[in-house]
Amino acid sequence: MKQVYLTGITTTGTPHLGNYAGAIKPAIKASQRADTENYYFLADLHALIKSYDPEAVQQSRLEIAAAWIALGLDTDKAVFYCQSDIPEIPALTWLLTCQTAKGLMNRAHAYKAVVQENETAGSADPDRGITMGLFSYPVLMAADILMFKAHKVPVGKDQVQHIEMARDIAQRFNHHYGEHFVLPEAEVDDSTAVLSGLDGRKMSKSYNNTIPLFVPEKKLRKLIMRIKTNSQEPGEPKDPEGNTLFEIYQAFATPQQAEEVRQRYAEGIAWGEMKQYLFEHLNSILNEPRQHYEALMAEPEAIAKVLARGAEQAREQSAGFLAQLYKAVGIAPIR
Ligand code: TRP
Repeated sequence: MKQVYLTGITTTGTPHLGNYAGAIKPAIKASQRADTENYYFLADLHALIKSYDPEAVQQSRLEIAAAWIALGLDTDKAVFYCQSDIPEIPALTWLLTCQTAKGLMNRAHAYKAVVQENETAGSADPDRGITMGLFSYPVLMAADILMFKAHKVPVGKDQVQHIEMARDIAQRFNHHYGEHFVLPEAEVDDSTAVLSGLDGRKMSKSYNNTIPLFVPEKKLRKLIMRIKTNSQEPGEPKDPEGNTLFEIYQAFATPQQAEEVRQRYAEGIAWGEMKQYLFEHLNSILNEPRQHYEALMAEPEAIAKVLARGAEQAREQSAGFLAQLYKAVGIAPIR
């Protein structure tokens, strides 16, 4: 039986190096295997949780779609679609919501982080600024995954809890209504899955510390030169573990190339030299995709066509499966 791989990227902001390392790279690699089936999508319904700026969401949908294609996703091999084009996903979200313990959602990191911030800020209401969208975000994500019976979900480490929640929710549904759902597993590549950003914290749109995948060469160089380093001198042996420059290099390198750079760290490569080296390496890899990306961005109709076909393919699974699930819960045509 084929292994089903599925992952999504939330369409807020411009695609960045972290998206590549956590989702795009492992997903494309999986799609090149003969023993896999692949579903990759733009999580635009998830975007509405974080962004109330319609133009930004629309622009990001286009950019993230173009990035997947420019980086080499073969849309003949993978089903590539927009979450919002699959109306069965919000419908499934409701079925799952009715099986999800509120206490489980109380434990979600993303929700807890905001509660924590409110408490630190001395707010009288710990739920201040928290919508039901944010609170039940993991249920929508579970619907994304369970709808396509995914076995493996390539994600960054920060998303692992959400996959575990999807399993919990699936198990509960299966327990009540029969074995409908496959229990998914996160696939985290430890070496590359969460990249640090310019300031050393996790590379994330929320921290405004990202390096976009497709900026002009000059700008890319400038951003890399801005990455925070410590005060170690040239010639001093340096530890590659947890070093932002090394992490980024490794995400774009073969194991052998990474090994060579490890060696150079041991020999005391200067930070300035490493930055230049990283820039040249990234630029050589991103040069061609960058041109492809720019061509795609100039022709949104071509992207729309690819996504429309993907949605059609995805609905071959989702329409029939939702009907089966409705029937399982007692909502079937009356005759
Ligand atoms: N929550 C993920 C993120 O912010 C994006 C996402 C939405 C996703 N649905 C998904 C990832 C389903 C994997 C599977 O990165």
